Amino acid sequence: MSVVVRRVRADEWRRARDLRLEAVRDPAARIAFLHSYEEEAAREDAFWQSRARGAAVGAEVAQFVAESGEDWVGTLSVLRREAGTPDHHGRIVETPRADVVGVYVRPDSRGEGTIEALFDAAAQWTRRLGDGSLMLDVHVDNVRAQAAYRRCGFAETGLRFTGSIGPELEMAFALDADAAGEGK
Ligand SMILES: CC(C)(COP(=O)(O)OP(=O)(O)OC[C@H]1O[C@@H](n2cnc3c(N)ncnc32)[C@H](O)[C@@H]1OP(=O)(O)O)[C@@H](O)C(=O)NCCC(=O)NCCS
Repeated sequence: MSVVVRRVRADEWRRARDLRLEAVRDPAARIAFLHSYEEEAAREDAFWQSRARGAAVGAEVAQFVAESGEDWVGTLSVLRREAGTPDHHGRIVETPRADVVGVYVRPDSRGEGTIEALFDAAAQWTRRLGDGSLMLDVHVDNVRAQAAYRRCGFAETGLRFTGSIGPELEMAFALDADAAGEGK
């Protein structure tokens, strides 16, 4: 079944929470996500409601979900940062940037192009807001994610650092400004 990618709606906070709780139980979660299942499961409903509300509208955060029929089969979020604000690692951002976080495709939908569809939607949204690139960090041992990102057009920037989950590398995807009108 083909996949449709769209932005999450605020009233879908329970589904967004449940997909996140599934993601952080993935066998790769230790090298994929900054928060553990225990940390995520302990959060109050108000946290998930606020997160979905913030990701549904506006130009700061967008969560995209990939739907196959009625099912959600994948997700990612884009966090747009202004200079001088802290990123998800607590580092102060020097120039404005758009970070991709929370990338997850359900196991039975992997290898089927869902990740491409999610990045297409993220790139389209971010490009329209005038950003020049999408950035992400990936654990050095998360070779499957790295291979998927490379295939989707991301390349290593050369920056490596040690974060809370261990050694990570930074990747960037240049957004083609000429394509800004696509899909309008
Ligand atoms: C990362 C993720 C979103 C990628 O989506 P996906 O549908 O699995 O990606 P694809 O199958 O299209 O691509 C994976 C690539 O890794 C390769 N691959 C698969 N298993 C691999 C392995 N064990 N070692 C190395 N490469 C592997 C595939 O061959 C493919 O590369 P190719 O296109 O060059 O052949 C998904 O695997 C996932 O949700 N993983 C768990 C959470 C996670 O790691 N998120 C990323 C956090 S940064």
